[in-house]
Amino acid sequence: MNHPLIQHKLTIIRDKNCGTREFREVVNEISTLLAFEVSRDMPLEDIKIETPMGTANSKCLSGKKVAIVPILRAGIGMVDGILDLIPAAKVGHIGMYRDEETFEPHEYFVKLPSDIEKRQIFVVDPMLATGGSAIMAIDALVKRGVAEENIKFVCLVAAPEGVEALRKAHPSIDVYSAALDEKLENGYIVPGLGDAGDRLFGTK
Ligand code: PRP
Repeated sequence: MNHPLIQHKLTIIRDKNCGTREFREVVNEISTLLAFEVSRDMPLEDIKIETPMGTANSKCLSGKKVAIVPILRAGIGMVDGILDLIPAAKVGHIGMYRDEETFEPHEYFVKLPSDIEKRQIFVVDPMLATGGSAIMAIDALVKRGVAEENIKFVCLVAAPEGVEALRKAHPSIDVYSAALDEKLENGYIVPGLGDAGDRLFGTK
């Protein structure tokens, strides 16, 4: 996503001197801007509406309702920003942590809206590093009857390795990222922005 506001705000949160409060605020702001781009292809239908001055041939959304699915913990930091734009969206949660040595993801929590298979889903997580967490979260949705074409993955920074792995595992899923970074190093995105979960919640 090369929108100047997205790029400028990303610079703010990449800075290691950006504190928890600002980090949290700006992650939400970027998420709102990303949601604007990600929702660009939402289908519309024609509608006639009475304005105070007459009849207007206008448009309204006609597609699936939205569910935002953050990957815990860090994905939570993106939810409010997206809800600012799509306030009626439902929110499901998928808990995932990476083993600190092997970087293998482990699922520990799944709670989704009951009609999840009927919704357009935005899976959100600030980081796509090895891709393991994203792949496993999407697997969890597919296992519960969600069609891959109803899922979009939205992140802030991605490593080429993660994009490649996600593409291989789920080729039909669109990936949206504020930036595509250089590489993965010891499981972390370089230059990236550090550990988004720790920076959002002040746990390190
Ligand atoms: C981080 C991040 C992603 C995942 C990305 O989560 O928020 O969920 O790692 O890495 P991957 O693409 O290699 O799977 P972490 O496991 O640190 O948990 P947290 O969000 O609770 O901090």
